[in-house]
Amino acid sequence: MLEERCCRIWDGVSETVASDIRVRDAGDVDLAAITQIYNAAIARRNATAQLELVTIDHCGAWLRSGFPLWVAEIEGHVAGWLSCKPFLPRCAYRATVELSVYVDENFQRRGVARRLLEHAITHASHLGIRAMVGLIFADNAASVRLFERLGFARWGSLPRVARADNIERDLVIMGRHHDTHRPGAIVMRPDAQLHDVFELMHTLMQYRQQPVHGELDKIRKRYSMLHLDVLILIYHFATICSGQILEIGACLGGATIAAARGIRESGKRKTLITVEQGGILEHEHLGTGNILRDLKRNLARARVADLVTLIAGRSGDPATVAAVNQKLGREEIGLLILDADAAKGRDIDCYRDKLAADCWMVIDDYYGPGEKIAAARADVEALAASGLLEPLGFYGWSTWIGRWRGTKL
Ligand SMILES: C[S@@+](CC[C@H](N)C(=O)[O-])C[C@H]1O[C@@H](n2cnc3c(N)ncnc32)[C@H](O)[C@@H]1O
Repeated sequence: MLEERCCRIWDGVSETVASDIRVRDAGDVDLAAITQIYNAAIARRNATAQLELVTIDHCGAWLRSGFPLWVAEIEGHVAGWLSCKPFLPRCAYRATVELSVYVDENFQRRGVARRLLEHAITHASHLGIRAMVGLIFADNAASVRLFERLGFARWGSLPRVARADNIERDLVIMGRHHDTHRPGAIVMRPDAQLHDVFELMHTLMQYRQQPVHGELDKIRKRYSMLHLDVLILIYHFATICSGQILEIGACLGGATIAAARGIRESGKRKTLITVEQGGILEHEHLGTGNILRDLKRNLARARVADLVTLIAGRSGDPATVAAVNQKLGREEIGLLILDADAAKGRDIDCYRDKLAADCWMVIDDYYGPGEKIAAARADVEALAASGLLEPLGFYGWSTWIGRWRGTKL
């Protein structure tokens, strides 16, 4: 029994950079890859107390158990998998599952385990799951930290209960309840949050009577894909936020200019860093053959270039993260604007150590059709379900607005 239960301890990975990861239900076609990933973890010895390799039939039984088994795919390859299994056989535990996550060695440190766990968290409630439990070797600090980041707490520890290759291991029990969270539901701090939601709507209405409304409308028409309400909120947050501002995905600079104008209005010294990978943009009236060139030109034309630090690069690249950190120094981020690709979780992960408590968050691509929106939304919902993001509304065509409620790692 102990042997079997210890098999379910997942592979510890430190998640820093997610790529284009797609999570879906596993099928028979995935069994070979699932088995291979599991057997590789068994051979490594550090992630599981299962000592003997398993067969495809062994893993096939999980598929036919009726409990969820999901795979994470990167560019058509199964990069990892997550299974939910009954925690204990007695009826009273039927709404509690034990999670197991394993990641292919070739895809580690790319956010695969995190994405799978977020998927499980997002889908828990509608699957009738009220509690999730994970059993992790105590010395697997990276896994314990990952679970904590996703809202799991230490529910217990079992000293020296596993022994493999003559080494005794302690087991940590990580757990998370789901009875108060529904996927997609707005998790409210009832009074304070409701007050903030109405305050924001009220603020937006007031801006409609001010000159900046017309000014930002002109900026929007020339340089932005975002709704005017969102540009106004970015301007507003830039005026009130304490801390610096980080934007991911400037494109032609519409939101960047709105934030820079807010800084100027605040009369305070705030750093505005924008990260843009560059390239070409095909768009009806905003199209360009050189994003970075036109971005610089637009910032200069709007007379805000002196307020903006442009970092040319991909947000998840270590060099970009290092450049942002260097520019921030000891300062924290008080406003984070995410309008790049679908990997919102990756971008938050990369910069979360710099987020101020209560940091304002503007995250685009939350509503609409298509895979990009589905992935972006899944990231935001998982973080909101974990209590790390607090929603304060949805504005414009597709933008999620809220605050960071996480703690430093
Ligand atoms: C939707 S546009 C941004 C629109 C802009 N915020 C506005 O006000 O109209 C997305 C931009 O993000 C950039 N981008 C996509 N993924 C990125 C990444 N990982 N890092 C940096 N920039 C990225 C694209 O090149 C593109 O210019």
